[in-house]
Amino acid sequence: MVNLGNLWQNLLASQAPLQSAMTGNATTMSGLATYTLPQLPYAYNALEPYISAQIMELHHSKHHQTYVTNLNNAIQAHVAAITSKDISAQIAQQPAIKFNGGGHINHSLFWKNLAPAETPETSYAEAAPSLAAEIEKTWGSFEGFKKAFNTALLGVQGSGWGWLVKESTSSGGRLRIITTKDQDPVVGGEVPVFGVDMWEHAYYLQYLNGKAAYVENIWKVINWKTAEERFQASWEDAFADLKALL
Ligand SMILES: [Fe+2]
Repeated sequence: MVNLGNLWQNLLASQAPLQSAMTGNATTMSGLATYTLPQLPYAYNALEPYISAQIMELHHSKHHQTYVTNLNNAIQAHVAAITSKDISAQIAQQPAIKFNGGGHINHSLFWKNLAPAETPETSYAEAAPSLAAEIEKTWGSFEGFKKAFNTALLGVQGSGWGWLVKESTSSGGRLRIITTKDQDPVVGGEVPVFGVDMWEHAYYLQYLNGKAAYVENIWKVINWKTAEERFQASWEDAFADLKALL
């Protein structure tokens, strides 16, 4: 079983040497594992007309790439600080590891929880039957859930993300809507069923200040097949696919 928990804890706390948790598709460089930008599972124009090819290309090849590059740089600096027993430098690197590691995790999840509109993956009822039943039990109807999720997304102040999460089994295993600030990833044992990027770089070139229209249209490209798989999975299993990308 994949234990992404170790990776997660290292990215967040970064107090311990990181090499042991960084495997997957990472390649080694000077004894350190490095992260690489995952390929999109569709073409840059595949989410049009709801998300433009220009946004997707910049978002993936520039923004996400920058998180990956900066994460690798921060890890190298952090390990060098460990080697030299420079505790001040170790502490100073932690925000960069959290921010860029979170950006890498969040975007890797996001690409996979989107799909071209009107494909089988975007059919809520057919692709996510057990998740749909739980959503309707929790919020009364899909429309009730969508309204609550949209309200949460539009309530994000500055930059952040909105998530549908499944609580850990020990916490009840219920569905909840949460938001996270900047690039903070979902932590605490919840499974992120799907997320929506509410940074301006995710929509501004197409929607300008029309954030509500972006939020309305994102529903056309939610990959409910991926959401169903994550919903049915344990926390560790839910990230097995993600870990392969990381
Ligand atoms: Fe983003």
